[in-house]
Order: sequence, then C-alpha cells, then structure tokens
Amino acid sequence: MVVKIAESRFKKILITGGAGYVGSELTSSLLNKGYNVKVFDLYIYGEVFKDIKNSNLTKIKGDIRDKNMLIKATKDVDAVIHLACISNDPSFELDPKLGKSINYDAFFNVVEAARINNVKRFIYASTSSVYGVKTERNVVEEMPLEPLTDYSKFKASCESVLQNIKDMDMEWTIIRPATVCGYSKRLRLDLVVNLLTINALINKKIRVIGGNRLRPNINIKDMVGAYELLLSAPGKKINGQIFNAGYQNLTVTEIANLVKEVYGHPDLVIEHVPTNDIRSYHINSDKIKRVLGFEAKFTVEDAIKDLIDAFNRGLIKDGLNNSLYWNVKRMQELNLR
Ligand SMILES: NC(=O)c1ccc[n+]([C@@H]2O[C@H](COP(=O)([O-])OP(=O)(O)OC[C@H]3O[C@@H](n4cnc5c(N)ncnc54)[C@H](O)[C@@H]3O)[C@@H](O)[C@H]2O)c1
Repeated sequence: MVVKIAESRFKKILITGGAGYVGSELTSSLLNKGYNVKVFDLYIYGEVFKDIKNSNLTKIKGDIRDKNMLIKATKDVDAVIHLACISNDPSFELDPKLGKSINYDAFFNVVEAARINNVKRFIYASTSSVYGVKTERNVVEEMPLEPLTDYSKFKASCESVLQNIKDMDMEWTIIRPATVCGYSKRLRLDLVVNLLTINALINKKIRVIGGNRLRPNINIKDMVGAYELLLSAPGKKINGQIFNAGYQNLTVTEIANLVKEVYGHPDLVIEHVPTNDIRSYHINSDKIKRVLGFEAKFTVEDAIKDLIDAFNRGLIKDGLNNSLYWNVKRMQELNLR
C-alpha cells in the first residue's frame, strides 16, 4: 500500500477540507512522498500546517461555495480529493440550511471547477453511514442506500450527482469510509474511539451509550493509505467505482473494553447507559482489498495507543473543553453563514 510518487500519474493534488482531521494527515503524507498539494479549506479548526515548511504546499483559505475561487484553485491540478463538508450529524443539524449549502449545493461547484480545468481524477469522500441500519452481516457496495440523517442523505445525493453526469471525461471514484480513529494534528474527539479514549484519560470514566451497537472503524493511518491508493491506482480499476473502507466492526462495548485494556489504569470505570438510538452500522470492505489490494495495517488498539502517547506528550490541550477538537462546539462558536 506504500505509494511512491513515481508510481502515480498525478503529482498535483488539490484537497478540499485538507486542513481537517483526515485531510491534514493526508496532506502531510502526500508532501512527504513528494506530491504537490494545494489545500483548499476554510480552516474552521485552525492553522494546522504552521510547522510545515514545504514549498510543495499551497494553502488556500476559501469556501467551496465560492465557485470562482475554486475554478482558480483547480488550475494545473491533476487530481481533486473532495473532503470538505460539515462532517457529522449534530453539526449538520445545528443549521441544516448551511449544511445543505456546503455538503450538497457546493458539491456541484467542486465537480464543475475540476471539469473546467481538465482535472484527471476526482475522489469523493462519502460515508459508510449512507447504508443506514442493515440486518445483513455483510454490507457491500451494491446494497441500497437508506441514509437515516440529513448528513448521510446529502452524502448519498452527491454520489448520485457524480454517477449521473453525462459525458464525464474525468475519472471518478467514491469511497465510503468507516468511522476514523487515531491521532491527527487536527484532532477530532467526537469520533467514537477517540471520544472513549479521551474520557478514559481525563475522567477515568467511560460512558458507553447503547453498548451493543456496532461501529465500523478504520485507523487514520490506513485511511490516508486508502486515499493514496485511490490516487495511484490505474484508472480502469477505480473509475466509476465505489469502495467501502473499514477494518474492524466492533460494538461500542468492545471499543470501551479495548480502551480499558490498552490504557490499563486500575481506576478506570465503564458505565453502561441504555439508548433508544438503534443506529448500528457495519460494513464489508472486501472489494477494496480484492480490486486494489488494500489491506489495513493498523488496528483500533494502535489508534488508542497513539492517542494515549499524544496525550502524554502534551499534544492534546484541554481535551474535553477545547472546541477545536469538537465539531459541534466549534460550529456553534463560529456561527458560520
Ligand atoms: N472522520 C470520519 O470518521 C469520517 C467517516 C466517514 C466519512 N468521512 C468524511 O471524510 C471527510 C473528512 O472528514 P474529517 O473527519 O476530516 O472532517 P473535518 O471536519 O475534520 O474536516 C472537514 C474540513 O472541511 C473544512 N470545511 C468545512 N466547510 C468548508 C467550506 N464551506 N469550504 C471549505 N472548507 C470547508 C473544515 O474547515 C475542515 O477542515 C468528510 O467529507 C467526512 O464526511 C469522515
């Protein structure tokens, strides 16, 4: 899964949302491999690249709702990775009109800007929550989408937009990631593994709400690897394709037990709380392995270890209160329009 730039036809990459949780790690990794990266982002969660001095990095502070700016930014770009959005249910629900304008309406801008500038490859970050709740054991890419929330519904709608474009001369692919876990320089603590770990570290107490619900997970290092693979793969393998990307489907209780095991603090308490929220997601990721040879190398345990290590090194500052780690808090604070 290691990508060398020489193997990829595409050297100049634009990442919308490149300053986010996944985007910032992806950007660093691509820069380390010699790619030229333009990050197009509103920098809602701060200037994450201040320590990076690399002439291959171009930072553009912009809104994907600004089509003209996107058209300028996508000039001389080989591939676009589209990550920017309001990226979870609660932040979307804070202001559904704003959420739709960014997650759906602006999607047309990103695709059009890429097409106008003859971008060769377009990679769209959807989500595995587009499937909704399924009883089948193996939730594969061909299954009908039954998104339960507006955030997932508009992710699914963007997939349809791509699939229905006529005369598409740009290669495109859609990835449906599981919930990502692990440390990033723009950290999110509102994601299940990260949330349970920070509570263990600070409160010495984990509240497990609806412990039997399943969650598919992917370590952020593998998530980055999956995007790199989609960049370097031959067009005939990825064009028009949709790939699930997950590794371990675990119940919330199993995740809590892993946190307890890895952290190993004798005073750690796990409290179980029932819930009416029946959302239980699990996915099968055999296709990305079969077609592209993607194999996850990092586990949920590795993600927990990395978070504990970052915490012990003082890299997570005021974890429970710092709004930069919590999308809903940050969106409330910003009052973006
Ligand atoms: N993190 C996960 O567990 C996960 C799981 C499945 C899918 N995804 C998808 O992966 C992508 C990245 O997720 P993430 O966790 O890194 O999210 P994130 O919230 O950390 O990053 C999103 C980035 O988009 C930027 N942004 C938001 N609105 C913008 C706008 N109007 N114009 C320009 N930039 C804007 C933000 O500033 C932020 O840097 C998202 O599309 C998300 O839906 C994430």
